[in-house]
Amino acid sequence: MFFPKLAIIITALALVPLIFINESDSAEVTPFASQKVNLSVYYASLSQPCATFIVKNLEEIFHSDLINILNLQLVPWANAYVDKTNHSIICQNGPDECELNSLEACALNVLDDVNKHYALIYCFEFLAIEGRHKNWQDCFSQLDLPLEPILSCYNRGNGTELGQKYINETTLFYTPHEFLPWVVVNNQSIGKEYENFTRYVCEAYKGIPAPAACNRR
Ligand SMILES: *[C@@H]1O[C@H](CO)[C@@H](O)[C@H](O)[C@H]1NC(C)=O
Ligand SMILES: *[C@@H]1O[C@H](CO)[C@@H](O)[C@H](O)[C@H]1NC(C)=O
Ligand SMILES: *[C@@H]1O[C@H](CO)[C@@H](O)[C@H](O)[C@H]1NC(C)=O
Ligand SMILES: *[C@@H]1O[C@H](CO)[C@@H](O)[C@H](O)[C@H]1NC(C)=O
Ligand SMILES: *[C@@H]1O[C@H](CO)[C@@H](O)[C@H](O)[C@H]1NC(C)=O
Ligand SMILES: *[C@@H]1O[C@H](CO)[C@@H](O)[C@H](O)[C@H]1NC(C)=O
Repeated sequence: MFFPKLAIIITALALVPLIFINESDSAEVTPFASQKVNLSVYYASLSQPCATFIVKNLEEIFHSDLINILNLQLVPWANAYVDKTNHSIICQNGPDECELNSLEACALNVLDDVNKHYALIYCFEFLAIEGRHKNWQDCFSQLDLPLEPILSCYNRGNGTELGQKYINETTLFYTPHEFLPWVVVNNQSIGKEYENFTRYVCEAYKGIPAPAACNRR
C-alpha cells in the first residue's frame, strides 16, 4: 500500500534531472510556426521614441531566446500620409524621414533574414538618435552588408512604393495614432505599455517550454 506510492515518488524524483537534461539539450526553443507570437511595431524612422524603442527595448529579443518564438514585423511609414492633390507622401518629421523610411522599407524587403534587416535598421536608428542619419551608408560597411541591392531599391523609388503599400495596409485597421511606436501583440495594441512588450509576448505564448526570457519575470 505504502510502497507503490513511494516508488512513484522516487521514480518521479529520478526523472527530474532527466527532464532538466533534456531541456538544456534542446537549448533552443523551437515552436511550431502556428504558436509563434506576432509582434508588430508601427513606427516612423525619425521619431525619437521610436528610435529609442528599436535600439534599446527591441534589442533584448535578439539577446535572449525570445526571437525564436516571435514573428517580428517592423512597419515604417507610420503617421505618414499621401497628399491627395499631388500623390506625394508627407512624413511627420519631414522629407528626411521619408527618405529613411524608404531605406528601411527596402531593407525589410531586400533582406529576408530578420537578424540582418534588424541589424541594419538598428544601425540607422542609432544614427537617428544622434542626429547623424544622413550617414546611413556607413552602416553597410560596419555590418558588412552589400549596399547595392538596397541602394537600387531606394533609387528606383521602390521604397516609396512600399510606403504607399504600408500606408494603405495600416490605415485599414488603425487610425492615426496618438503616439508612436504603436506596438501590437497578436493583433492587440498594448498602447502605452510598449516598453513592457516582453510581458505581453510571454502571456500570448502558449508553447511549452516557455523561453527563458519569460521565466525570468
Ligand atoms: C505635394 O503637396 C504638398 C502640400 O499640398 C507639398 O507640401 C509637397 O511639397 C508637394 N510635393 C511635391 C512632390 O510636389
Ligand atoms: C523595384 O520594383 C520593380 C517594379 O516595380 C521590380 O521589378 C524590382 O525588382 C524592384 N526592385 C527591388 C530591389 O525591390
Ligand atoms: C494605395 O491606395 C491607393 C488609393 O487607395 C491606390 O491608388 C494605390 O495603388 C495603392 N498603392 C499600393 C502600393 O497598394
Ligand atoms: C500572426 O500573423 C499571421 C500572418 O499575418 C496570421 O496568419 C496569424 O493568424 C497571426 N497569429 C495570431 C495568433 O494572431
Ligand atoms: C485584428 O484586429 C482588427 C481590429 O482591431 C480586426 O478588424 C481584424 O479582424 C483582426 N484580425 C485578426 C486576424 O484577428
Ligand atoms: C512596465 O511594467 C512595470 C511593472 O509592471 C510597471 O511598473 C511600469 O510602470 C510599466 N511601464 C510602462 C511604461 O507602462
